[in-house]
Amino acid sequence: MNAFAAVPDNPQAKASAATLRARIETLPLADKVRLLTGETSWTLFAVPELDLSPIVVSDGPIGIRGIEQVSTEAAQMPSPSAVAATWNTDLAARLGTLIAGEARRKGIDVVLAPVVNLQRTPVGGRHFECYSEDPLLTGAIAASYVAAAQVEGVGMSVKHFIGNESETDRTTYIAKVSERVLREVYLAPFETVVREANVWSVMAAYNGVDDGTGVAPATEHDHLLNDVLKREWGFDGVVVSDWLAANSTVESALGGLDLVMPGPGGPWQDKLLQAVHDGLVAESIIDDKVERILRLGERVGAVGRVAHAVPDAPDALHSAPETRALLRETVARSIVVLGNNGILPLDPARAAIGSIALIGPAAVDPFVQGGGSAFVQAPYASTPEAAIRDAFPHARLRVERGGTSRLHAPAIDPAVVTTPGGSPGYELSLFDAHGHPLGDTVVVDAAESWNRDVPIEARSARVRARVRLTRPGPNRLEVGVSGAHEVWFDGELVSASTEVANSNVILNSSANHPVGPAKRFEVGDAEPVTKAIDAELQVVDAEAYGTFVRFELRHEPHDIDLDDELAAAVEAAAEADVAIVLIGTTEETESEGWDRPNLDLPGRQNELVTRVLAVNPRTIVVVNAGAPVLLPWLDDVPAVLWWWLPGQEAGNGLADALTGRVEPSGHLPWTLPARFADVPVQDARPIDGVIDYVEGGDVGYRSWDRLERTPARPFGFGLGYGAWAIPHIAGTTWRPDGSLVVSVEVENRGDRDSRATAQVYLECVEPDPDRPLRWLAGFALLDVHAGQRAVTDIVVPCRQFEVWSEESQQWVVSTAELAIRVGQSSRELSPSRPLPNRDLIHLQTSQ
Ligand code: BGC
Repeated sequence: MNAFAAVPDNPQAKASAATLRARIETLPLADKVRLLTGETSWTLFAVPELDLSPIVVSDGPIGIRGIEQVSTEAAQMPSPSAVAATWNTDLAARLGTLIAGEARRKGIDVVLAPVVNLQRTPVGGRHFECYSEDPLLTGAIAASYVAAAQVEGVGMSVKHFIGNESETDRTTYIAKVSERVLREVYLAPFETVVREANVWSVMAAYNGVDDGTGVAPATEHDHLLNDVLKREWGFDGVVVSDWLAANSTVESALGGLDLVMPGPGGPWQDKLLQAVHDGLVAESIIDDKVERILRLGERVGAVGRVAHAVPDAPDALHSAPETRALLRETVARSIVVLGNNGILPLDPARAAIGSIALIGPAAVDPFVQGGGSAFVQAPYASTPEAAIRDAFPHARLRVERGGTSRLHAPAIDPAVVTTPGGSPGYELSLFDAHGHPLGDTVVVDAAESWNRDVPIEARSARVRARVRLTRPGPNRLEVGVSGAHEVWFDGELVSASTEVANSNVILNSSANHPVGPAKRFEVGDAEPVTKAIDAELQVVDAEAYGTFVRFELRHEPHDIDLDDELAAAVEAAAEADVAIVLIGTTEETESEGWDRPNLDLPGRQNELVTRVLAVNPRTIVVVNAGAPVLLPWLDDVPAVLWWWLPGQEAGNGLADALTGRVEPSGHLPWTLPARFADVPVQDARPIDGVIDYVEGGDVGYRSWDRLERTPARPFGFGLGYGAWAIPHIAGTTWRPDGSLVVSVEVENRGDRDSRATAQVYLECVEPDPDRPLRWLAGFALLDVHAGQRAVTDIVVPCRQFEVWSEESQQWVVSTAELAIRVGQSSRELSPSRPLPNRDLIHLQTSQ
């Protein structure tokens, strides 16, 4: 037996499976097939005969986006990598309880989360949405999150199964990964979430997979879905396609997919019915899928449901005191101290701080969540400025942006947009394929940049708008459009394209990126200026995502010279007792839909840091990013904090960390490179449609170790505010199930109470090309008083001592000689200690 032994048979579950099957048998085939495709983008069909109400699903990892066209407010958690940086499975569980409460409040049955793909390359666009580059840490955090949510009767759909580690050509590339690497690395967190948290749904990815057993889209990979996930792991939930990922009828039906989303339309429905009639798909296969959906319905309470959504109460959970407190704690606890010469914490009671310069693009406009389907409309935003004012009530605070981290202007203030006739909004006219008008010209609120209220027969659109620029000085106007267009500013053609956009705009490319015509206009002191904007646009037919026109106005009203902004920031820093510089990325850089070309901080932010540092030796830099960025000045700055994408409690959590009210005890769940040239996997561009995982199982820090490269900060690193001796191994004991208990002792040599993140690594004594040199095998948190020691037992699961044998198709205990080391990062470790003699236990291999 080992930690991954099959879930024991549950007599009740069996009885219920038999009952489910009996009920399904009464249903006509057409009704069964109908249930296997969504009725809408986010809902399944009801089946009155089975007393099944529509099951409702929604994104995503950091909060409940909801299924309305315009998102309604929801608690906005820190990004998943921030949660992983706490290394705190209890905290992940509390967040799981919160997301379940939010799902219930918004009438959602299944949450499309968490993402347990690994951070294979730091340029991956959805890096912020993943937990870690390590499978064990990813699995542990995800399993706690899922289990806590599902206990509340809300399902989770863990995603994206499998090989979806990047975004470039994400709907077409083939991930070439050996079976062994898949088993030991990329499947491992999915296996944990299936076996330990009994997750109720798994989302099959867009990409294809070549695992050596066959090449197939992830939505129809018979071996991975049927053999591994369903038969071997005993997964009894629903495999749902990623949105529009399913492209075949018979192959996907036979290959293990249970539910096509979104609907209506797609490759199943009538085509699948026909395939059953033609004998290409057995009815028993359809029955199995229906049974799985019905089981999900029972689990989430959609069977026999009387009413669904609980009304959105004014004292909603998203801003209730306990939610605020939990999110605030998560922000503070996730922050990683990358460097600190003793300047932090800035205890307001003790430090002589008369004035603070709060500087940087993220000080004015923090980047609180990544771009894409994970987007959540927060009920409020705790800003750094307000939080620092609260924390340091007696200090003078000057805020300076010091440049920009954005490539494009922010969304326009809708109040400055009118129709040519002067009504608020812009005019939209639609035309059919012959250029005939469809209905009347309508007036649209300028805040609505994706106009989805478009009839299916519309092919083109005309937009007319007037923008009133009132702020004197240089103003920049931009228009974001999708696909074929012509755009005129004041009668001058500023952009034209004949390239037609389709659903790829949403799914697959930087066409979704808000690029478009831009122009600068000078506004004088005396008179505001009005600009006429006219556009001819294509109507985008994005299949199940609907038909829409994209017209997004963006405006930078103070497009002042960046030199001036930088100079003002430096001046503010020079005058202040302390300079706090908030820099980072934006959703233009970190988003679903595209990968990054490099790890540079956008704009002139490095220059900002070095110039501030030159005038103020008491400078603290706070990095507001989800994924690694290069910090060339890292070791020159007195203190550097990694603040992640912190969500609605951004400012309060940061202030708590700065003052030490809560210790920022985060540890990096990934490696922070010092130079781009050192990054083991520098891009995710498919070659001839294939992404070859040539590094094998050496994902993340494992490659850094193999290549003997020195990162800026290693995996697992985090200083907190304690002062620790390197932990040491106080004892080791095998357990009968083949797991190893490692007693780890830590010693807090500092004068503050502090939290340790004890990490256990296994190491190959003789380097083996098929095994990492070293890997994380267990971890635990310990709160230790100043000057005290503490010991904890960390269980290293049996699986950590096993390898996947492709030959015998099973897990076997590794014969390689292994050693154990412990530490608070992957690079500062205790001396290695041999494993105790394994003959002392009776080992079994797991199946
Ligand atoms: C994303 C999924 C998401 C789905 C629904 C897809 O494009 O890859 O993560 O759950 O859309 O929004």
